[in-house]
Amino acid sequence: MDNMNDNNRIYIFDTTLRDGEQSPGASLDQKGKLEIAKALAELRVDVIEAGFPITSPGDALAVKSIAREVKAPTICALARAVQKDMDIALDCLKPAAKPRLHVFIATSEIHRKFKLNKAKDEIVRIATWAVQYARDRVAEVEFSPEDASRTEPLFLYQVLESVIDAGATVLNIPDTVGYTTPFEFGNLIKGIFDHVPNIGKAIVSVHCHNDLGLAVANSLAAVKFGARQVECTVNGIGERAGNAALEEIVMALDTRKDIFGGKFTNIERSQICKTSRLVSSLTGMLVQANKAVVGRNAFTHESGIHQDGLLKLRKTYEIMRPEDVGFGETQLVLGKHSGRHALENRLAKLGHKLTEKELDHVFISFKALADKKKEVFDDDLVALVDKEIVTTPRIYALGYLSVLTASGKDPKVTLRLKFKGKTLTATGTGSGPVDAAYRMIDKMIKRRPRLLDYQIRSVTVGKDAQGEVTVKIQGDADEVMIGQGLSTDVIEASVKAYLDAINKMLHRSKLSGKDRAAHGV
Ligand code: KIV
Ligand code: ZN
Repeated sequence: MDNMNDNNRIYIFDTTLRDGEQSPGASLDQKGKLEIAKALAELRVDVIEAGFPITSPGDALAVKSIAREVKAPTICALARAVQKDMDIALDCLKPAAKPRLHVFIATSEIHRKFKLNKAKDEIVRIATWAVQYARDRVAEVEFSPEDASRTEPLFLYQVLESVIDAGATVLNIPDTVGYTTPFEFGNLIKGIFDHVPNIGKAIVSVHCHNDLGLAVANSLAAVKFGARQVECTVNGIGERAGNAALEEIVMALDTRKDIFGGKFTNIERSQICKTSRLVSSLTGMLVQANKAVVGRNAFTHESGIHQDGLLKLRKTYEIMRPEDVGFGETQLVLGKHSGRHALENRLAKLGHKLTEKELDHVFISFKALADKKKEVFDDDLVALVDKEIVTTPRIYALGYLSVLTASGKDPKVTLRLKFKGKTLTATGTGSGPVDAAYRMIDKMIKRRPRLLDYQIRSVTVGKDAQGEVTVKIQGDADEVMIGQGLSTDVIEASVKAYLDAINKMLHRSKLSGKDRAAHGV
């Protein structure tokens, strides 16, 4: 059914690949971005903001490849109200089936005075010129008055009226610093509808940050007062405390249709958990256990009274059904006697269609895991696919690891790495086995990245569960990289995670040289 003209339809504008990627420490390579964009298309978001092309040649290439390969959603690129930004973004959008240029300039007094050093009339002139320039080149133009929620309302109305006259098709109202509150933001949206005479010619959108933990509440208040597009990110990742979380917006509208007057999105809810997991895995931004909708504990009932109630009637304590968001029960699926075909079938059911080569690769790891672990669960398989479908070349790969520990003694680690067809070996100690292994690796790669963060979690249940280690490192050029490693042995998972981050760092520095050449910048 085509519901595009239904006034109750709320458009989901996903900015995981742009604002989400601005999360401190979340860096995605081009292949990872494309993989997320394809998952977002399966999730049926309406718009994918694929990047901010002027910021880096890598970002520009990612927008271009998403525009080329992902056809169902609108593909959007961000640009300042500056010709060079817009030209590069428009160039990247050329292959898109449904392109949109998103242009922004700050309008609040504090940004005008201290960031831009421009008077009000100059801001209006630049905004109008930029929207006209964009509209002459692309049919869909979104305009954002940055820091709108701290802009004098009368001036905001004036800017909005002018950019609509200049051809803006979507007006986005950002709460850039997460300062507003639901009543206030709802009133601002109402004020826009009441005071901007040509507002009917554009779609009103909102973009809320989570500095006070109100991003979702503010977005929903705006929907109540007529906003038709919500900008959000998977798992709520984004600049500082993040953006409004897509899964929370979608499920709030779905669960509370009664108070939102039947407003609905086109999101395929069963894809929510899978997409959340993919974004978490590729960005290295772990999802907290108590996170609404997608956290590990989101549907776990611990108290006896709750469990008793649930057994009598699920709705006593469950307002959403876990299966509706693809929150699959942990299932025993495969064991060491399972074949390649069974693995392929199970992965397809979990939403992973692999190429022959990828399947070969995952099958080898699956067999190794099934040898170590009696029971292989769905979550184990998903984690294996995430880790084994290599998005970064394995410049350094783990060949052999031996750890000798005894109470009161420093551990002794022997490590072999494969590098360009050679084997590098080192033996040494440290204040713990992970510290010792990381020191050995630093020696072998002749670099000393700074370890900014180290986290470990269990992928499934039981003593033989796989441990997933996530590390964040900083290289010589201050670049921050995330790496992940998976194994039933946590020391091995730690080594794999560190090597993964190092390989990404080396790959990125190699790529950026090529990217620059390709872009002539
Ligand atoms: O938060 C913000 O103001 C933004 C704009 C560029 C929309 O991200
Ligand atoms: Zn933002």
